[in-house]
Amino acid sequence: MLRQPLLLLSRSEAVKKVVSTMPVSAGIVQGYVPGETTESAVDATARLQDDGLKVTLDFLGEDTTDAAQAQATVDAYVDMLSALSARGLAHGAEVSVKLSAVGQALPDGGHAIALENARTICRAARNAGTTVTLDMEDHTTTDSTLEILRELRQDFPETGAVLQAYLHRTEADCRQLAHEGSRVRLCKGAYAEPEEVAFQDRLDVDKSYVRCLKVLMAGQGYPMIATHDPRMVEIASSLASRQGRAPGTYEFQMLYGIRPEEQRRLAAAGETVRVYVPYGTEWYGYLMRRLAERPQNLSFFVKSLISKK
Ligand code: FDA
Repeated sequence: MLRQPLLLLSRSEAVKKVVSTMPVSAGIVQGYVPGETTESAVDATARLQDDGLKVTLDFLGEDTTDAAQAQATVDAYVDMLSALSARGLAHGAEVSVKLSAVGQALPDGGHAIALENARTICRAARNAGTTVTLDMEDHTTTDSTLEILRELRQDFPETGAVLQAYLHRTEADCRQLAHEGSRVRLCKGAYAEPEEVAFQDRLDVDKSYVRCLKVLMAGQGYPMIATHDPRMVEIASSLASRQGRAPGTYEFQMLYGIRPEEQRRLAAAGETVRVYVPYGTEWYGYLMRRLAERPQNLSFFVKSLISKK
């Protein structure tokens, strides 16, 4: 019931200003974001890799309406990729990019600017020996994001995409993308979407997730199963054995700080598990979406706001 209001707040500049004065060390933020600097993200990557986990790093930011800010985000990714490479961590760590952080939302030529900026990040990733996955944002960006994916894949076929099971269109998008060499991260979807485009009931979202999983697991691509839901993990595992897929021909993905024991349990059982590690100062929208998924965390959040220094 709290999901929609929290998701609306995630886009409020006024509330963002108040909440963002919290130091990142405030408990609730730290639970989801290891830090604000490249160094903190790379350190977290090293710790996770020591535990047998792979990583995808996200330099936090979204809805940028300033070209200089978009460029600063590109620079941050390039810097982080060279730091990963210098520490010998790039083979087990790729990057996730929100196109709205690199210019997609700019009023003039946003699509083309985001494409060029994403290209720069793909090039830096390839030089470091790793890959890029394009995050998926709200439904108004889906067509543009999939178009940018198609264009990027001409030069960087290793580029991955995210599809959101809550959208009515996604089963068809899965069929389009379930081809050889195609890396697709399937998640439930984290934005407030209208009923014209998205399932509203959790059960309907779960059913859609399973239909999409079936398409991806039966296809020729590389499915990346991004969920903390134990039922979805179990269904994905049984679909993998039914399709004769060995571990390593697909992977599980979970967010930093969520069900860490399960991440380690799956890795110890021989599965490939990748942890999504967001970092940077722009953690507000990300944090609000995590609170919307789990409103039980709200009381901790309010306490850390009240006790902020
Ligand atoms: P669900 O929300 O049903 O949760 C299942 C269980 O997981 C809960 O019962 C609880 O135990 C645990 N859990 C879930 N959220 C929690 C939280 N915040 N705190 C503590 N426990 C929690 N979305 C999107 O729209 N675009 C994107 O690009 C991405 N990218 C992405 C990458 C990766 C690697 C992951 C794991 C997720 C995303 N998402 C995303 C987010 C995704 O759409 C979804 O909102 C969350 O993963 C929560 O959905 P679950 O599938 O975990 O199920």
